[in-house]
Formats: sequence, structure tokens, C-alpha cells
Amino acid sequence: MSHAKSHPHHVAIIMDGNGRWAQMRGRPRLFGHTAGARRVKDIVRACPDLGVKYLTIFAFSTENWKRTQTEVAGLMRLFKRYIRREAKALFEENVRVRFIGDRVRLEPSLVELMDGLELMTAGNTGTNLTIALNYGGRDEVTRAARRLAHDVAMGKLDPRAITDDTFPRYLDTYVLPDPDLVIRTSGEARISNFLLWQSAYAEYEFIDTLWPDFTEAEFAKVIGRFGQRERRFGAVTA
Ligand code: IPE
Ligand code: IPE
Ligand code: MG
Repeated sequence: MSHAKSHPHHVAIIMDGNGRWAQMRGRPRLFGHTAGARRVKDIVRACPDLGVKYLTIFAFSTENWKRTQTEVAGLMRLFKRYIRREAKALFEENVRVRFIGDRVRLEPSLVELMDGLELMTAGNTGTNLTIALNYGGRDEVTRAARRLAHDVAMGKLDPRAITDDTFPRYLDTYVLPDPDLVIRTSGEARISNFLLWQSAYAEYEFIDTLWPDFTEAEFAKVIGRFGQRERRFGAVTA
């Protein structure tokens, strides 16, 4: 059986290496983040041709608050600017945008822009772009457990009826399929708290390119390699 034609339906990307990219140029880390934000556009645009229906990108983790106040504030400004500048183009390109992560700790002015973009693109039927912002896999599972426990306490859910189909309905990603392929740029081979539950059977690609240097051509190459993989899901191939 040939797997050459299969392509990932849902690709998730850990966009890493912006800081090092800037450092190599003797520039502040935010310069790298700005360059990184520009790459997102091309990667989103490449999805329809590659057969990628869902793209999820890791923009800011629950651990990234540990960075300097300058970097965190710069990133928050960048997210706001990105939404303001790209909203129209995303809408016109039929992209449906969603955000995952805990919004409670984000500035109200940013949350307002996020809600607005979700609402504006809610009717779009093209690429499903999900942006993980203040996202952490453990935090997401914890928040899900809290809501599930609440439903049990309210008598809305019978604990004996909880299966591994029930639980994901409480995750931020409840409307998304699981990722088939997770890509991390910058050479680090770790998942840094990204989509812990959802990636149970994802294929991983760790590539050396720093995120601001990641091109559509390389994206297409990585997608092509996915087609050569044999996914067994615990079974034995005949
Ligand atoms: C990824 O790039 C972007 C964010 C985490 C916001 P980094 O900022 O982690 O870049 P490096 O890993 O320091 O090079
Ligand atoms: C993961 O990258 C988070 C994002 C890409 C947004 P980090 O650079 O924060 O992860 P670590 O610190 O190298 O694990
Ligand atoms: Mg990093």
C-alpha cells in the first residue's frame, strides 16, 4: 500500500527561534518576533494547496510570562498589531480564526481584538487557523478538569459515563480534530507544553531552521515527508 498521497489534515507548529534569529543579527529579540509574525502569513496562505485544512500555531505559552517585561509587553503589542493589520486579509482569504489558551490573564484590549476576529471570520469555510496564545497543555487540561468536575457536582454528568471521548469536549480545542503532524523549528526537540492531550498520536518533525527563516517551500517539503510515514496507531500493518 502506498502512503505517498496522504497529507496531514491538521498541522500544528511550534514557531521557535525568533530570539536567536535576532541575536545572530545583533538585534533585540523583538526584532525576531516581528520577523516571525511576517512568516505566518505565507504559511497560512500555503495551506489550501497543500491540503492542510487546520493549522494551529503556538504564539505564546503559559511559561513565556517568565521573560522580561520588555519582551512580554512587546509581544502583546505585536499580537494586537497583527490582528488589526491582518484581519481584513484573513477574512478575504476565507480563513476561520480561533484562539486557544487562557484569556483571563490577557489584556482586555487584546481579548477584544481576539473575540472580534473570531466573530468576523466565524462564517469562513477555508483554512481553520488556530492561534495558541497564553496556551499551556497542562493549564488547558487543568481548566478542562475543573469544568468537568463542576458539571459532575451540578449533577449534569455521571462520573461513570466519562470516557476518552467525553474529556476532549472540555478542552479549548473541542471543535478541532487532533493534529496529524507537529512541526517545531529551531532545532529544539521538545514539545514545551503544546497540545499534550491532542498530540498523543501526532507525527513530529523537528527542523533546524529558525522560525523567521521558515519558508513555504520548506513547509511543503515537510508536508511531503509526512506522506512517506507509516502511521500504525498501535496496530500491526498487514
Ligand atoms: C519563539 O521564539 C516565539 C515565542 C516563544 C514567543 P523564541 O523567542 O523562543 O526564540 P528563541 O528560542 O529564544 O530563539
Ligand atoms: C515554545 O517555545 C513556545 C512558543 C513557541 C510560543 P519556547 O521557546 O518558549 O520553549 P522553551 O523555553 O525553549 O521550551
Ligand atoms: Mg524559544
